[in-house]
Amino acid sequence: MTSVSELMKTMEYGPSVEDSAAVRDWLARRDAFGHFIGGSFTEPGQLFDSRDPATGEVLAQVSQGTVDDVAAAVAAARQAQPGWAALTGTQRARYLYALARHIQKRERFLSVLETLDNGKPIRESRDIDVPLVARHFYHHAGWAELRDSAFPGHQPIGVCGQIIPWNFPLLMLAWKIAPALAAGNTVVLKPAEYTPLTALAFAEICQEIGLPAGVVNIVTGDGETGAALVAADVDKIAFTGSTEVGRAIANQLAGRATRLTLELGGKSPFVVMPDADLDGAVDGVVDSIWFNGGQVCCAGSRILVAEAVAERFETLLAARMSRLRVGPPLDKSTDVGAIVDPVQKDRILSICRAATDTGAELVGGAAQEGCFIAPGYLRNITPANPGFEQEIFGPIATLSTFRTADEAVELANNTRYGLAASIWSESAAVATDIAARVKAGVVWINCANLFDAAAPFGGYRESGFGREGGRVGMLDYLADAPVDTVDEPAAAAPVAATTGSGSGQPADLDRTAKLYIGGAQKRPDGGASYAVPGGLAPLGGRKDIRNAVEAAAKAGKWAAMGGHARAQVLYYIAENLSARADEFAARTSRAEVEAAIARAFHYAAWADKFDGENVQAKPGHLLSVVNEPFGVMGIACPNAQPLAAFMSLVMPAIAMGNRVVAIAAQDDPLAVTDLYQVFDTSDLPGGVVNIVTGPRDDLARVLAAHDEVAAMWMVGGDLAAVEKAAGGNLKPVWAPAHRDWTGPQAQGEVFLRHATQAKTIWLPYGA
Ligand code: NAI
Repeated sequence: MTSVSELMKTMEYGPSVEDSAAVRDWLARRDAFGHFIGGSFTEPGQLFDSRDPATGEVLAQVSQGTVDDVAAAVAAARQAQPGWAALTGTQRARYLYALARHIQKRERFLSVLETLDNGKPIRESRDIDVPLVARHFYHHAGWAELRDSAFPGHQPIGVCGQIIPWNFPLLMLAWKIAPALAAGNTVVLKPAEYTPLTALAFAEICQEIGLPAGVVNIVTGDGETGAALVAADVDKIAFTGSTEVGRAIANQLAGRATRLTLELGGKSPFVVMPDADLDGAVDGVVDSIWFNGGQVCCAGSRILVAEAVAERFETLLAARMSRLRVGPPLDKSTDVGAIVDPVQKDRILSICRAATDTGAELVGGAAQEGCFIAPGYLRNITPANPGFEQEIFGPIATLSTFRTADEAVELANNTRYGLAASIWSESAAVATDIAARVKAGVVWINCANLFDAAAPFGGYRESGFGREGGRVGMLDYLADAPVDTVDEPAAAAPVAATTGSGSGQPADLDRTAKLYIGGAQKRPDGGASYAVPGGLAPLGGRKDIRNAVEAAAKAGKWAAMGGHARAQVLYYIAENLSARADEFAARTSRAEVEAAIARAFHYAAWADKFDGENVQAKPGHLLSVVNEPFGVMGIACPNAQPLAAFMSLVMPAIAMGNRVVAIAAQDDPLAVTDLYQVFDTSDLPGGVVNIVTGPRDDLARVLAAHDEVAAMWMVGGDLAAVEKAAGGNLKPVWAPAHRDWTGPQAQGEVFLRHATQAKTIWLPYGA
């Protein structure tokens, strides 16, 4: 007689296909879709097909949004915005709650529609995507209710343009629309051209619940429609998609006062330490790179495994991989469904070919008929191989080995991206150490690809900026409390007054300042100075900026010192500045000196307090949202109130652990260059603050273009040029309004927020 365990091994799966009749009925009744603008559907325009990638069948035809369609949608959103914002939090919450409820009621319908349109397994759309969509609207119903008390002084931004990809069509819609609406904004959303159908079903839900017309508008179309939305009169663009398009959008928006958040690509490391639970880690790989066919921006696509356990790990992995079922997405026993479109399938295969042509070996990963690719991984792959570096965005990981924890961290960070990381170790000490050192916005310890509406999500480096989810995510849909602005006085073009070592200096100039780089006073590379009130300032150039950035990059220990130690240095700066207050007041004004001292005290107080928070995203998971410094920051100071402005900008940045390259007030920098002695006597480590003087806009552009600079602040001046330059490696640019730098509006949490990026660390627990 056959035993049960034998039976389990030999038993074939029978198909268990989810019923799609209701969805097909719904589609049959609407063979062509218009856009959803101002609460109703427009007549269909020029049409394109939306297909089921598993079969190639045309599911529906949707309209290609034109510039006029986008303009009409933006106008509807603009008209609806004041009324929506004027509702009470509770009223807005009720709408969001109703959306959540209706999504829940239609869970089965939406899962099937999503699976048909995208090709993902029904198990995923039913058990992960759609429940998370409902969760997102519930969570943000809460934020709508609490907005005024949780974010005092904040206001909605206005009209938000939102562009989403095809890998999680309805979930990305929820991530975009829920916080925007909770905050009091209205939206125009453009779904991806491969997967517009669940967004259109969502539009119907908006009608069903009686959402005021124009609060949500949906315009379908391809990249051209997206570009039209970016060019339209919107107050914010939120984009999720490829790094290339993200960079193009950053460029397009340079110089426009449009808020921008970008959630871009990744090549996230999946690190298996020698003491990891290998069976758990193998399951983690399945969740990481074979979930949604690897078409996941945060997929753990670079498996890095400790050499000591690599052989065993690979044996387990190969066995697990061979049991994954590739097949019809609607079949409930399918693990890996269809790739979203033949174009994407070709793209995946071509990267794999390039990888194997360059010496890597592909295990599994066979192309199958139709839009299917079997799960696989590339081994024997060097960091220089195109497959190691490029986002494959398919069910193909890379696998390489490391010897030590340091090497693991180095390999993990050897990428231009920084979206996520998954770390496997049974030792909490080891796992948390690596979590702290890895440069990524989301870190999963002994887990992978977990998401929750309360857990901020977003990237470091070229994975973008801004966060979605939780309190931090809400801030990206709110405008800071307004400040009284003053005009930034225009700077005069600095003219070289002398060359060489200061010889020939006019007699009435009492001082020739130097640059401050790496904790030492340095002559500018060109050797020239320019006349400023009270003396000569060095005429810094491109090379000086590069030297300053290099010095800042080397001063990484500043972040590792911890908030308490940094606070002591800031208190010391305050003390030493107080002792020399009269001297500084003679060069600037008493008010400026008082403000400068106040800033050092204020941010010393904050240095060990702006830590982040723990959130309750899921039972059984410890979730820390840590505020990490960017690393090297560039700060271009305004021309007025040179000392107060400099301290108002530089102190919060260094309090958080950043190292700074600051361009001092162009026309009047000597009060700032006098700070060198204060810094030297305050135990500020060399390289933490570097100061360059000279033509501010030119220097700021060089700084913004530098790859080592991770964030840029700029007050006034040629912001457009700086934003363009910063777009190259996608660093965020913050342009705080020019204000009275001696007043109370020149300090506070807003400065700290812009000096940090949130890292979300997930740690499941349970004995
Ligand atoms: P994509 O970045 O072109 O598309 C994403 C969205 O942006 C779509 O809605 C598209 O219509 C829109 N779009 C395209 N060009 C635009 C423009 N110039 N201005 C405004 N919006 C524009 O991504 P695509 O071509 O679908 O996929 C290519 C690769 O991008 C993938 O293989 C993957 O590597 C990456 N990708 C990353 C995603 C992520 O979640 N990080 C999502 C989708 C793609």
